[in-house]
Amino acid sequence: MTEKVEITVNGEPTTADVEPRLLLAHYLRDVVGLKATNIGCDTTSCGACTVLLDGESVKSCTVLAVQADQQSVTTMEGLSPDPERLHPVAAAFRAEHGLQCGFCTPGMVMATVGLLSENPSPTEREVREGLEGNLCRCTGYHNIVRAVLAAAGRDPQEAEDKPAELAAPGFSTGSSE
Ligand code: FES
Ligand code: FES
Repeated sequence: MTEKVEITVNGEPTTADVEPRLLLAHYLRDVVGLKATNIGCDTTSCGACTVLLDGESVKSCTVLAVQADQQSVTTMEGLSPDPERLHPVAAAFRAEHGLQCGFCTPGMVMATVGLLSENPSPTEREVREGLEGNLCRCTGYHNIVRAVLAAAGRDPQEAEDKPAELAAPGFSTGSSE
């Protein structure tokens, strides 16, 4: 049995007959063909699949495609369709070296866009708390925090020399795992 869904993705209408169990993450990657939305776990814990659903950041592996019917999704591709004109958040990640392998980056950037839409000028602590659902295996998070602060128009130096106990659980190690 399949159900028809109509989902606007990055401003373009998409439609398909899908199984009710199909995850939005798989809809985006396998039906629409947008591969920036990564899948890094099967426990809804890594955040690599984060997209905006009607403007709010969600882990697309926790949403069924049928639940997104008649809604709008923005992925990393939609945020910066022109590589020469990066979205300010993506530009800040590049400027502050907020990535290494890049696997977590689309999810981090989309989560940051969601965070800044709710809190346009977060403190260093609020950045760490706001992104605690997004994991990175490479960076130790420090430059990611700098990038988010920079994207918010704050001084990235606010991320400097913070003791580990100020960091939120799951976003706190400050070292490679
Ligand atoms: S793939 Fe969605 S949280 Fe890891
Ligand atoms: S840059 Fe490699 S997982 Fe974050």
